[in-house]
Amino acid sequence: MIQKQPTAPSATMTKNSTYSKTEPQSIQSLFNTIAPRYDLANRVLSFNLHKGWNRALINTIDPAASVLLDLCGGTGEIAYMWLKKQKNPKKALILDFSAEMLAQAKQRAPKNHEVDWLEADAQLLPLPNNSVDAITCAYGIRNIKDRSKALKEAYRVLKPGGTIGILDLTEPRSALLRPLHAFYLNQILPTIGGLITMNPKAYRYLSNSIAQFVDPKIIEEEMLKAGFKEIKVNSKSGGIAHLWKARKEN
Ligand SMILES: C[S@@+](CC[C@H](N)C(=O)[O-])C[C@H]1O[C@@H](n2cnc3c(N)ncnc32)[C@H](O)[C@@H]1O
Repeated sequence: MIQKQPTAPSATMTKNSTYSKTEPQSIQSLFNTIAPRYDLANRVLSFNLHKGWNRALINTIDPAASVLLDLCGGTGEIAYMWLKKQKNPKKALILDFSAEMLAQAKQRAPKNHEVDWLEADAQLLPLPNNSVDAITCAYGIRNIKDRSKALKEAYRVLKPGGTIGILDLTEPRSALLRPLHAFYLNQILPTIGGLITMNPKAYRYLSNSIAQFVDPKIIEEEMLKAGFKEIKVNSKSGGIAHLWKARKEN
C-alpha cells in the first residue's frame, strides 16, 4: 500500500504551467504528468548511459545493508535494481512526492522482497531517527527546494555507519564537451522528451535544472554541513553526471 504523508498541496497545474523548484507543487505536478512515459523517455534520452551511473550508485551501498531508503525514488529504478541483486529478502522504502511516479513504481515491484512506497517530501521524512541502513537519491537532489533540509533529514534517519549515495546530472567542465552538452540540453532533451511525454515544458524545465545546478563542490559542502563524513565525489562520463558517496559516523 502507498503510505501518504502530507506534502505540498496537490497542484492542479496543467502542461501550460511554468515549473520552478521554488514551487515544489509545480515539480510534483510535472512528475505526475510525465510519469506514465518517464521510463521510456529516460531510456531514449540517456542513450543508456544512466544504467552504468545507476550501477555505480548501487555499489555505494554496503552489501550488509538490509533496509534501503531511495529518496526521490520515482518509478523504482534504483530500489528495484538493488533488490534484484540481493540473494536474501531485503526491504526498500521508495519515497517520492509524486503519487503518479509511485503508482508506476508499484506496478513494477519485484517479488520476494518487501517494498514500501512513501508519498512524502524528501525535506520532511516520515521515518524515525537511525532507521535505515543506506540511502540513495538519483536525479532528485537538483529538484529539491531546500537541499540542506533534505540532507539533514537523510542524516537523521540513517543508522550510524550507514551510507548515502547521491547521483545527479551536471554540466561538463571540458570546453570540448560543453557545446555538445548545451545542444543536447537546449534542443534534444526538450524536443524528444516533449514528443514522448507530450509535455515539452517539463523537459525544458529539466534541461534548465541541469544547466542551473550548483557546482558539485557545493553539494559536497552541504553534505559535510549535514554531518556526513568520508565524502567522495566522482565525476561520470566527462562530468555530465556526478556521484557523491558519504557515511554517517558510528
Ligand atoms: C528525475 S526523477 C528521478 C526518479 C528516479 N530516482 C530515477 O532514477 O529514475 C526525480 C523524482 O524526484 C521526485 N522529487 C522531486 N522533489 C522531491 C521532493 N522534495 N520530495 C520527494 N520527491 C521529490 C519527483 O517526483 C521525481 O519522481
